Amino acid sequence: MDEIILVGGGGHCASCIDVIEQEAKFQVAGIVDMPDKHSTTLLGYPIIGKDEDLPKLTENYRYFLITLGQIKSPQRRIALFEELLQLGAQLPTIISPRAYISRHATVGAGTVVMHNSLINAGAIVGCNCIINSCALIEHDAKVGDHCHISTGSIINGGTQIAECTFIGSGSVVRDNIRIGSNALIGGGVSVMVAVPDNSLYTGKK
Ligand SMILES: CC(C)(COP(=O)(O)OP(=O)(O)OC[C@H]1O[C@@H](n2cnc3c(N)ncnc32)[C@H](O)[C@@H]1OP(=O)(O)O)[C@@H](O)C(=O)NCCC(=O)NCCS
Repeated sequence: MDEIILVGGGGHCASCIDVIEQEAKFQVAGIVDMPDKHSTTLLGYPIIGKDEDLPKLTENYRYFLITLGQIKSPQRRIALFEELLQLGAQLPTIISPRAYISRHATVGAGTVVMHNSLINAGAIVGCNCIINSCALIEHDAKVGDHCHISTGSIINGGTQIAECTFIGSGSVVRDNIRIGSNALIGGGVSVMVAVPDNSLYTGKK
């Protein structure tokens, strides 16, 4: 099995480890996290370095996954993604064997598709996204790069989620609308209208 380095060692990383173990395509060789976590472990995997060690790590390892979570801002995940690409790292698409991805859908590099999520025919999901557990991306929906579609949320058919946007847990976005880039949709929200770029939407006026 090829080895993979995970970047970000919090709760989202633990969920990603479970997906990687179940997918059984990569062996986790280590995790990059804050300096004070060095020499500790997460689910039995060692924290082997910090962000500043990425240039050295890319000399020794080929595959990386960004496992830092994303709620209010995607900026750190974007910076890491760009740095890793520049360093020549490969960012594979990681797909839980419990997820269903239509053969008519596409999913970009560095995106993780977690347990029990479903990406239907004609859907296009970009790079460096989190499609979290139990999320549904319906037919012909588009999810731009660097988005987090949280646990149990639903993106209905033909809807476009522009890049860098967060969709909160359990939210339902109606069909054929556009959610702008850099938008923040709260958890448990029903979104029936288009949402502009750079906005927070919780359904409250
Ligand atoms: C949208 C969100 C990020 C905003 O967080 P925040 O900036 O800290 O904002 P606050 O919690 O202070 O809330 C600000 C206002 O919006 C309201 N609000 C926030 N989130 C809301 C939601 N999901 N639904 C309805 N109203 C919400 C609050 O009640 C508050 O209203 P008030 O000003 O009248 O008191 C956060 O509330 C949220 O929904 N996070 C999603 C969590 C989630 O889905 N995690 C998934 C991990 S997989």
